[in-house]
Parts: sequence; C-alpha cells; structure tokens
Amino acid sequence: MVNKYIWAIGGGKGGVGKSFVAVNLGILLAQNGYKVILADLDLGGANLHTWLGVNSPSIGLSDFIEREIPNIAKLLIPTEIPGLSLISGAKDGVEIANLKHTQKRRFLSALRRLDADYIVIDLGAGTSYNTVDFFLLADSQLMVVIPEPTSIENAYRFIKNSFFRQIFHNSQNFGLKSVVTPILRKDNPYNVNTPKELINYLNKLGGSTTVFIEEQLQLFNPKIILNQVRTERDQLVGPAMKTACSKYFNLNMKFTGNISEDESVRKSVLDRKPLAVAYPDGVPMQQLKSICANILQEETERSAKNNLLSQLAL
Ligand SMILES: Nc1ncnc2c1ncn2[C@@H]1O[C@H](COP(=O)(O)OP(=O)(O)OP(=O)(O)O)[C@@H](O)[C@H]1O
Ligand SMILES: [Mg+2]
Repeated sequence: MVNKYIWAIGGGKGGVGKSFVAVNLGILLAQNGYKVILADLDLGGANLHTWLGVNSPSIGLSDFIEREIPNIAKLLIPTEIPGLSLISGAKDGVEIANLKHTQKRRFLSALRRLDADYIVIDLGAGTSYNTVDFFLLADSQLMVVIPEPTSIENAYRFIKNSFFRQIFHNSQNFGLKSVVTPILRKDNPYNVNTPKELINYLNKLGGSTTVFIEEQLQLFNPKIILNQVRTERDQLVGPAMKTACSKYFNLNMKFTGNISEDESVRKSVLDRKPLAVAYPDGVPMQQLKSICANILQEETERSAKNNLLSQLAL
C-alpha cells in the first residue's frame, strides 16, 4: 500500500458512539491485515484504552507535544489485537486542549511518518478548533450521529463550523485570506451565515475566488455514520441528512450506513472487550464491516481519480 490514510471520527455531540466506532473500525482494519494506529485525541476525555481493555497508560500525546518524548513512535502502546497500537490521550488534561495550529500539523505529520497503513483518530465532542482542525486534517472525515434531534442539530453545526474553518485555513494558501476573513466573521455585513450563503458570495466575486470555492467544495466530503438505530424511521435519517445538507448548505456529504442499537455494545464496554472481539458476528459488527468496506471503496476510487488527474497534468 502506497498511501497512508488518516480517518477522523467526530460529530459534535457527546455520548453518541464516536469512540465505539473508532475502536471497532480500527480493529476491522487491523483484521484486514493493515497496520493500524488508534490515536485518542479526545483531549480531556480520552478513554480508548478502556474500550481496548488496556490499563491507564503513563505516556501520551502531551509527552510529544511538550517535546519530552521527541520520537512519536515511543508513544505507541501495543494492544491485544495483532497489528493495532494505541496512542493515548488519557494522561492529558484540558491544559493541552488549546493546541496551536502548528502543533497540530507537527503532530499529524509525525503520525504520518509512523509505520502504519491507517491511523484512526477519535475526537472529542463539540466543535472546538482542536476537534475541527484534526477532523479537517484527516483524509476521511467521519461523523457519528444518532437519530435524535439534538445529535442531528449538533451534526449540522459541526458541518457548518468545519466548512467555515476549512475555508479560513485554505484561503491563506490561495492568497485570499484578506478577502475571506471578514466574510467569516459572525457579525459580517455581507449576510453570510450559512455555507450556502458563503459559497454564493464567494462565487459572485468571480476570478480566483470562484476557482477557490470550487476546489474547497471538492475537498469537503464528510461522511455520516448513523448509530443507535432502532426503528425503520431511524433508518431514513442518514439519507435525509445528506439531502438536507445539499439543499440547505449546498454541501456534499456521504451517508455510509446505519448501526443498530444493541445490548451487546454495552455488554462489551462493561467487559472491557471491544465488540469486534466479543461479538464479531453480531448485527452491529456486520453493519460496521459494511461501513468500513464503503469507506475503503471510496478511498480507492478517490486515489484512482487523483492518480489519473496527476497523470493528465504531466
Ligand atoms: N450501537 C449501540 N448500541 C448500544 N449502545 C451503544 C451503541 N453505541 C454506543 N452505545 C453506548 O453509548 C455509550 C457512549 O459511547 P461512546 O463512548 O463511544 O460515545 P462517544 O461519542 O465517544 O462519547 P464522548 O463524546 O463522551 O467521547 C457507550 O458506552 C455504549 O454503552
Ligand atoms: Mg469518546
């Protein structure tokens, strides 16, 4: 495998199953023969070690950030799953929750240099700059949502904030920072409050701004995983969110699949055994396998497209 992929799992609301999804997707990738690192970036609330049945780790992200351990490979904690290791955030309190963007980039480029095929990042709840920035720096951006109005509302907020933040960061590379920054302000006089209004406004400016916004729309591809699904009606929520995002935000997003609510999930947490190990053939794991296959398929298509584009550019 030539490329290394980073998957980030976010979604806005707390307690919806982000860590559950991160751990079990990580295990599925490892069971597929990939070398996988699970990175716990839920700063202040890290608990992946518990999901994996690993004792509270004594080294973690802050050791690298504060440069006491300059070699990031030293943070890797082996797990019982062959091919899967953990970078813990358990020891890290909220004091490192305010990372500078350069620190985040340094950390992610160090992660990319590690000997792994996949890096799966578990993010905290909310839409803090840290969470959104790590989400945006990933290659596959996964959002866990549950079919409840509060989670759906938080997911839309997460999407909006992520898109605005992406535009903010990338406008600099395009030399458009001075044009874009005033438009992104909450109290901007241009009536730009939603992604759709932002897209329309930038499009109307024409020239390089139009090229810029077109590129940003291609880049922004969050994927929704709907968790804790109980009824037939719940199953419609993911596709409905995709449609609403396109209609009201003008943004593309993918729906990757449903995961049923199942008693086995809680049991696996209480037993400190990941679901992929405790109940590998149950319904939630079958659904996670299909979600994992969907993401892998989309990545294969994306890299084929990028390869073709770079060949054409030569
Ligand atoms: N599909 C499911 N079926 C049943 N219970 C579930 C399911 N998914 C998650 N849960 C329950 O929800 C709880 C919270 O899950 P998890 O810790 O993964 O959420 P989270 O989004 O990571 O939360 P936080 O934002 O606090 O990190 C789990 O302890 C588990 O009991
Ligand atoms: Mg969590």
